[in-house]
Amino acid sequence: MIRDQWYAIARALEIGSRPFGLRRLGKPLVLWRDREGAIRCAYDACPHRGAALSRGRLVEGALECPYHGLRFDGTGACTHTPCHPGLADRSGLDLHLLPIREERGLVWLWNGKASDELPPIPWDDAIQARLDESGVAQLDLTDTFDVSYLRVMENLTDYHHVPFVHRWTVPAPAEVTRFHAERHGVDVITEGALGDRLTARTHIRGPCFALLEFGGVATFTVCATPIDDDHTWLFARYTQTWLRVPGFGALATWLLGMFDYRLLQRLQDAPVWRSQRLSDPADISRYTLLPADEGVRLYFEMHQELACR
Ligand code: FES
Ligand SMILES: [Fe+2]
Repeated sequence: MIRDQWYAIARALEIGSRPFGLRRLGKPLVLWRDREGAIRCAYDACPHRGAALSRGRLVEGALECPYHGLRFDGTGACTHTPCHPGLADRSGLDLHLLPIREERGLVWLWNGKASDELPPIPWDDAIQARLDESGVAQLDLTDTFDVSYLRVMENLTDYHHVPFVHRWTVPAPAEVTRFHAERHGVDVITEGALGDRLTARTHIRGPCFALLEFGGVATFTVCATPIDDDHTWLFARYTQTWLRVPGFGALATWLLGMFDYRLLQRLQDAPVWRSQRLSDPADISRYTLLPADEGVRLYFEMHQELACR
């Protein structure tokens, strides 16, 4: 997993009155809200004897282990050892907290050392403004796929798969009549058209965040976070731009999200992603890229640079 990056790992509204266990970046994690309502994150293993803390409970904002009842406050400090209530030194039992932020309705995990000067999350105000432009309700969807996040990310700049993978659902001309790709640091931007019909623009930022815009119809953000090397948690916030009538606009957004997420991606894209057999998901040296894959090339060029820092 690329280090020193922010990864969206969960929807913030999922973190409530119970510890929430999840697997991201190849690690079991636990999320909970402390006494002040701030979300906290740690490896899902009790410092005492390793029980999964996500099986425990919250007691007045403290995370209580299900095995012997040790409790941890919002700083990770062990505050209660029921078998020895007066234990003088509990410092060896403290829980190591991982750096997280709650922004854009998501929990973001920093895959690196904690610091007071971490960079901003990739979903900045300019990207949010593109989503807000449509003025209609936004729809959040999540799903998991049994492929590397790299198969999902490389697909985002690839328009010329549409007339084949989505032959019956998004009929489009096969010829790429316009395509431009450019890279600025961790940003890879592609813009293009199939025939005179489908136009698209994608803006990838860093290893696994993107803004996608489809020809005056839909705009959405995507986070493709590794669960592990072979599984991906996908989050998308959809909005559509062709029907802005109140009420109907929200319905259209819902229909669009379901169409793209449940039908196109799950039933049409995912089987092809699964069929791409690479011994190392990040090693694309066996690919033979076409001009229409320039976004794919730039994405992996950027990814390789991030991996080698
Ligand atoms: S393993 Fe957690 S309290 Fe013993
Ligand atoms: Fe697709």
